[in-house]
Amino acid sequence: MNANTLPWVPKPDVCQPTGSAELAMLDVYMPMMKSSAIIAAGRLGLFEALAGGPLAVQQLAEAIGSSVRGTATLVDFLIALGYLERQDGRLANTASTQRWFTSRGQVDYTPGLLWTHEAWPMMGGLAEAVRSGHPERTLWDAMVEHSHLGELFSSYMAAFASDLGPDLLRHVPVLPEQGRLLDLGGSHGLHAIRFCRQYPGLSALIVDLASALGDTGETIAGAGLAERIRLAPGDLQEVDWGGTHDLVFYLSVAHNHTAEENRRIIGRIGQALRPGGLLVIHEYLAEKPLDALDAAFRLTLLVETGTQTYRYDDYCNWLTAAGLETIERIDLDPREKGSLILARR
Ligand SMILES: C[S@@+](CC[C@H](N)C(=O)[O-])C[C@H]1O[C@@H](n2cnc3c(N)ncnc32)[C@H](O)[C@@H]1O
Repeated sequence: MNANTLPWVPKPDVCQPTGSAELAMLDVYMPMMKSSAIIAAGRLGLFEALAGGPLAVQQLAEAIGSSVRGTATLVDFLIALGYLERQDGRLANTASTQRWFTSRGQVDYTPGLLWTHEAWPMMGGLAEAVRSGHPERTLWDAMVEHSHLGELFSSYMAAFASDLGPDLLRHVPVLPEQGRLLDLGGSHGLHAIRFCRQYPGLSALIVDLASALGDTGETIAGAGLAERIRLAPGDLQEVDWGGTHDLVFYLSVAHNHTAEENRRIIGRIGQALRPGGLLVIHEYLAEKPLDALDAAFRLTLLVETGTQTYRYDDYCNWLTAAGLETIERIDLDPREKGSLILARR
């Protein structure tokens, strides 16, 4: 059995008191330290340094260019969190860490740790965003000002995309005669690359803000698909989508727009789809009552983009108004992966 097929072992919940009494500040202090330690390990390349096998603490400190004292202190907490373990006196990644935070695992979410390091100070503006009801400055404006933010966000989205990619291939049917894919908010390009590889008759157009497309051309060229995948930088509400398409992806992009914008964009998608064409939406759908993850995500959106998640009924209304039918909802497993909505013209 390798790290990708091991059963899930829940990690210790270090945020709960071990005795019988409630300790209010543990709710605040322990999540802060937990996040900080895991993010620091990602920034130092600690999990990757252990990807090839266990190391003694001195060797690990040397591999990540850090002090032995600092490394040992961080390691003790990462062991308590279930991220590392001791093996014959040396330190090793647990199976879950190897799987999710190293290049040898199923998906490497290290870019998510690097992104969270950047997002952390943004959350300092949460009280102000609650007071005013919108962000002081949107994420998209911050990305124009600081280009490394756009690149980092795209590589974080790329990690999500490698996790979601197999679900998409499994659930999205493409017919041999269907040749044109439009990927709205396609960012890193991995979804377009995956589908173009799988379906040799397919070519794609990716529309996204210029800040999100920094490395995309290079990734596409590296995949040998420069002839078949084109980029259209700009606001998807304004740029030309290049005629009609057989397949349109609107993947994790609706929550970046207002309800009115989504109604307009989906209406335009309806016009851009050929008869028989398919729209694929990936989203985190708001349920009644909201679950904890969705409620947290909505707070993130309040600070970062000023938008929100929507209910399945909202999508059905927008899709029906756009002339799309045979609407199908697929809830992914685990549920935290979100849902797909497929609709045909
Ligand atoms: C959450 S990411 C999803 C990326 C990709 N679709 C995926 O599923 O991995 C949202 C993407 O939508 C893009 N985006 C948001 N608003 C946009 C707009 N108005 N025009 C073009 N792209 C936009 C962002 O730049 C970002 O790349």
